[in-house]
Amino acid sequence: MPTLTTKFHSHTFENPFMNASGVHCMSIQDIDGLAHSAAGSFVTKSATKAARAGNPEPRYLNLDFGSINSMGLPNNGLDYYLDDAIRRQQAAPDKAFVLSVASYEGFHEYVENMRTIQNSDYNGLVELNLSCPNVPGKPQMAYDFEDTHRLLSEITAFYTKPFGVKLPPYFDLLHFDQMAKILNQFPIKFINSINSIGNGLYIDAKTDTVVIKPKAGFGGIGGEYVKPTALANVRAFYTRLRDDIQIIGTGGILNGQDAYEHLLCGATMLQIGTQLEKEGLAVFDRIQKELLEIMTEKGYQSIDEFRGKLKAID
Ligand SMILES: Cc1cc2nc3c(=O)[nH]c(=O)nc-3n(C[C@H](O)[C@H](O)[C@H](O)COP(=O)(O)O)c2cc1C
Repeated sequence: MPTLTTKFHSHTFENPFMNASGVHCMSIQDIDGLAHSAAGSFVTKSATKAARAGNPEPRYLNLDFGSINSMGLPNNGLDYYLDDAIRRQQAAPDKAFVLSVASYEGFHEYVENMRTIQNSDYNGLVELNLSCPNVPGKPQMAYDFEDTHRLLSEITAFYTKPFGVKLPPYFDLLHFDQMAKILNQFPIKFINSINSIGNGLYIDAKTDTVVIKPKAGFGGIGGEYVKPTALANVRAFYTRLRDDIQIIGTGGILNGQDAYEHLLCGATMLQIGTQLEKEGLAVFDRIQKELLEIMTEKGYQSIDEFRGKLKAID
């Protein structure tokens, strides 16, 4: 029987699967559910300094081939997730997970939130979300290359704990080159690609209306629609980043084959958003079985035997 055991940073997980931030991780009860599920690890809801109610509803809809959302970063505030993370870390030091941190106010809030974590007892992994596409009037930090460089310079001047960045999708080879060049200059441990494809529009065919209320119906797209873009981003960064920067592959993972493809492109951990929202925690058990079946069929005993080994046409 092959194994799904995965080494990520200094931790070993039973399998590479996690939720994607924003799905099933808003409350301590949600997080407990993940901690007791078949997922190898989990990530918390992206936290802003202050708690936020988010955008008016309806703000999320499941679609046949994915999802659209404009949540507006609803969350319980950084202290809520950080206190819970410290408690979990003290109770079970060997059960690693990821704390997601965002900003609603922009540059300075990012810095302040990272300073709060630096000064806390939490020593685990942090995912800095540079890619929330749903806050009206705020650009995504990681689409501003200069600001991203400035932000990472400022944070790494004082931050000494392990962290990575959650990136939006890029669509241009030059942008992959430019962002990879920036990231390679900093002591980040991982990247997570991709966040939702920003500002899509879905129309209800019967009523000729948009399907979510905020931003005149524009919202982040996830699920089946985004897999080719997600795979391209994982692959592009895998071939451009320093070897010690690991990749969390996120986007369009619905089944074992999707997971296999993300790993083939170079991902180490795998996050599931839309499909977890649609299917619930049972997705983790199903998808592991499907991935193991594919590995058995292809004669692989471990993920390391095929990670990153996507073939090109000569
Ligand atoms: C309802 C919802 C809320 C989300 N909230 C966050 C968030 O707080 N932080 C974040 O980094 N990504 C957030 N995302 C993006 C997901 O983590 C993920 O990157 C994206 O949905 C692509 O994965 P998928 O195709 O599996 O859905 C959210 C996605 C959805 C559907």
